[in-house]
Amino acid sequence: MSAPQQNTGNEKLPRHVAIIMDGNGRWATARGLTRTEGHRKGAEAARHAVEAAGELGIKYITLFAFSSENWNRPADEVNDLMNLLRYYLKKETAELHKNGARIRVIGDRTALPHDIVKLIENAENLTRDNTKITVVLALNYGGRQDIVSAAKDLAKQVKAGEADLSQIDENSFSGYLMTGDIPDPDLMIRTSGESRISNFLLWQMAYAELYFTDTLWPDFSKKDLEQAVAYFAGRDRRYGGLSQSHGMQG
Ligand code: IPE
Ligand code: IPE
Ligand code: MG
Repeated sequence: MSAPQQNTGNEKLPRHVAIIMDGNGRWATARGLTRTEGHRKGAEAARHAVEAAGELGIKYITLFAFSSENWNRPADEVNDLMNLLRYYLKKETAELHKNGARIRVIGDRTALPHDIVKLIENAENLTRDNTKITVVLALNYGGRQDIVSAAKDLAKQVKAGEADLSQIDENSFSGYLMTGDIPDPDLMIRTSGESRISNFLLWQMAYAELYFTDTLWPDFSKKDLEQAVAYFAGRDRRYGGLSQSHGMQG
């Protein structure tokens, strides 16, 4: 059995942070504002989180912006979220590019409005060679869908004689996921006091440290990210084995 992808380099700093940005609606309601205003403020918080991650030296940040289940919201809200996405992609792409960020989008983009797909392709193409940080946007993403589509791709290749079933292991299967060349998250943050995964990166989070905070996403600041990173630094990642200190003491 292959070992889970482990964080190399500075063990105290997560290489990849994945965030479930939750609580925009509650943030707005508490202030007598519309949910749309909460989402707008949430988009600003996302921009700041990416900036802060870059400053901390984090190499990958994944933001869960729209889940495959979020279509279940009222049409008006879905529409607002799509408009915001449009606005964010138009406004942020050049800025992210200037700052050396590579943009990647995971999720089923075929269900997204055509102009948004174009904006995504443009952002990915423009920034593909950047190396400072990779910003992964999860749009119309679902962890189970990701695994099913990987299994289908693999089955197709086996059927066509392009893949050898006996050679498939955890590492090669990971390559069929939408996160293909992206290392597994080391740290997963969820805001707003909920402690569930909501169909996020199910396979990829097998050994992620999970961090839950009551902070609502629009209030999430660099300080909150630093707190989560400090929590991560204090964890002993054993991957099913024994801790380092135990090993050293014999
Ligand atoms: C997260 O905030 C944003 C998305 C899911 C798109 P919510 O909109 O889920 O906010 P709450 O959970 O209703 O407060
Ligand atoms: C998870 O938040 C999805 C995103 C942040 C995009 P939700 O608010 O949709 O999750 P549930 O419904 O509380 O599980
Ligand atoms: Mg929510």
